[in-house]
Amino acid sequence: MDMSRVAEQGLVLLGCGKMGSAMLAGWLDHGLPAASVWVIDPYPSDWLKAQGVNINTPVPEAPAVVLVAVKPQMMGAALPAIQALGGGGSLFISVAAGTSIATFEDVLGAGTPIVRAMPNTPAAIRQGITAVIGNSHTSDINLELAENLLTAIGETVRLESESQMDAVTGLSGSGPAYVFHLIETLAAAGEAQGLPHELAMRLAKSTVAGAGALAMAADEDPSQLRVNVTSPNGTTQAALEVLMHAEEGFPDLLHRAVKAAADRSKELSRE
Ligand SMILES: NC(=O)c1ccc[n+]([C@@H]2O[C@H](COP(=O)([O-])OP(=O)(O)OC[C@H]3O[C@@H](n4cnc5c(N)ncnc54)[C@H](OP(=O)(O)O)[C@@H]3O)[C@@H](O)[C@H]2O)c1
Repeated sequence: MDMSRVAEQGLVLLGCGKMGSAMLAGWLDHGLPAASVWVIDPYPSDWLKAQGVNINTPVPEAPAVVLVAVKPQMMGAALPAIQALGGGGSLFISVAAGTSIATFEDVLGAGTPIVRAMPNTPAAIRQGITAVIGNSHTSDINLELAENLLTAIGETVRLESESQMDAVTGLSGSGPAYVFHLIETLAAAGEAQGLPHELAMRLAKSTVAGAGALAMAADEDPSQLRVNVTSPNGTTQAALEVLMHAEEGFPDLLHRAVKAAADRSKELSRE
């Protein structure tokens, strides 16, 4: 991660809760000097205070990057603190769900380079995936810098248009919760077959984690991996008949779930 420009000109982090702290931890680990970071947060955590970064002190006039990591509902109260930095050379990056590029352009000026990013909660252990899209003033160099910073919390992917953000929110943004629910219900189903709770939970967590790791590592795509473990008339086939072919099976349920999240994301961005 090339942090030299950020180290020289500084980085302002607006909001240092779960997402902000996960990113900051990654940057400091990758060698960004603590003295190059200015954090604005009304209630800095003990962890943050121990990092040696500048907290709630006057920020540089032209930092390389301003990263916004406050909750969307706090945005109105939080943005005035960084409004004056808009329209200069600073790149703005927002990880706030549901806050559109147009909202930032209204506050910061349309000439400001702004990258909107959608991470997900595995970011906390640097195994997130973050989708990014820049406004029309974002150069390739800006996008690369944003991606470099966001690799602190996992992988990144580029979108073609901001309109894809609602579908991304429905898939990877909210997706970890679907997988947590899969783990819960898989464990409960094992318990219903007679296993004790702790054993069922351990088997369920490890099965989801192991299958996820295999899906990432294998050359075959997930549908082929599924076929590979499904012997004719075997146990897996018996289960898949239910999951894949029952009315309201997995395909139908997940389509509806992701659509509901994407629809809600569209509504939230209009509120
Ligand atoms: N968590 C996720 O997996 C996830 C996924 C995708 C997107 N996001 C987005 O990431 C953003 C941050 O989420 P989070 O989970 O990190 O939330 P969070 O833990 O609540 O962090 C937000 C931080 O901003 C601080 N803050 C509140 N008002 C502020 C103000 N006026 N000025 C500066 N800082 C202020 C909060 O302080 P207090 O705690 O004192 O209020 C808190 O430390 C959200 O917009 C969310 O949509 C999160």
